[in-house]
Amino acid sequence: MGSDREQAVVVQRATRRFGSVTALADVTLQVATGEVVAVVGPSGCGKSTLLELVCGLESPDEGTVTAAPAALMAQRDLLLPWASALDNAALPLRVHGAGRREARAAAAPTFAAFGLAGFEGSRPAQLSGGMRQRVAFLRTLLAGKPVLCLDEPFAALDAIARAEMQAWLAAALERWAHTDPATPTATPAAAGGGSARTVLLVTHDVEEAVLLADRVVVLSPRPGRVVAELPVDLPRPRAATDPGVVVLRAAALDVLRSAPVAAAR
Ligand SMILES: Nc1ncnc2c1ncn2[C@@H]1O[C@H](COP(=O)(O)OP(=O)(O)OP(=O)(O)O)[C@@H](O)[C@H]1O
Ligand SMILES: [Mg+2]
Repeated sequence: MGSDREQAVVVQRATRRFGSVTALADVTLQVATGEVVAVVGPSGCGKSTLLELVCGLESPDEGTVTAAPAALMAQRDLLLPWASALDNAALPLRVHGAGRREARAAAAPTFAAFGLAGFEGSRPAQLSGGMRQRVAFLRTLLAGKPVLCLDEPFAALDAIARAEMQAWLAAALERWAHTDPATPTATPAAAGGGSARTVLLVTHDVEEAVLLADRVVVLSPRPGRVVAELPVDLPRPRAATDPGVVVLRAAALDVLRSAPVAAAR
């Protein structure tokens, strides 16, 4: 957690209601610069709402949310079906005013690093689920924001593709997110900058959380409240079969199961 580290995200006693539904209740959460924090919790407990608060797409009804600029990889990949993979990835550069040619030129070199070389001209429907997720992730990265909010990035994938993508993201985080902010690294400029990446990862999958994160935050059923924060002090790369991963996964599941059941999963 690093008590003296700069905080990229500070959520203080945030409550968000939608009409009579309280999605999040009194949530306090800090994410240090360069930290990878996973948020787990049952369906409908306000995880997506939390990311929307952090990205500034929603405002809390009570409490405060302060965060460095954050890019959201939404729960559904939201790729434009009529645009090529390259144009989809380059979209944030266009939004920031780059011309089409310039945006494509900036995005193209990243395709090989993401296992997408040769698929620049493919439409989303012509890509596998994992490739679509990588295009969506790349697009989020190319937004160039210091904080990445990833909402269930692999939920739609089958078990094998999911395991592959988890390993791939773990390696990408090693390169781009888990760097010590005090040690400047040669991060490819096209991958969004040279500073440490801060990541807030929402997932249903406790194992995924333990494999990828520095800390796992467990939310209760709706209204989502923080019921536990589990530091993951395990060496990387991590495997699902590592004893430490198995123990923490069980601990997080215990907390999830013992949280009061209000909403249906
Ligand atoms: N824009 C909205 N308008 C009305 N209700 C909303 C809105 N966004 C979220 N909600 C409600 O807030 C609650 C939390 O929703 P949210 O999408 O944040 O949950 P979640 O934890 O991401 O769920 P899941 O795991 O299924 O993705 C739900 O009851 C949902 O219906
Ligand atoms: Mg959600």
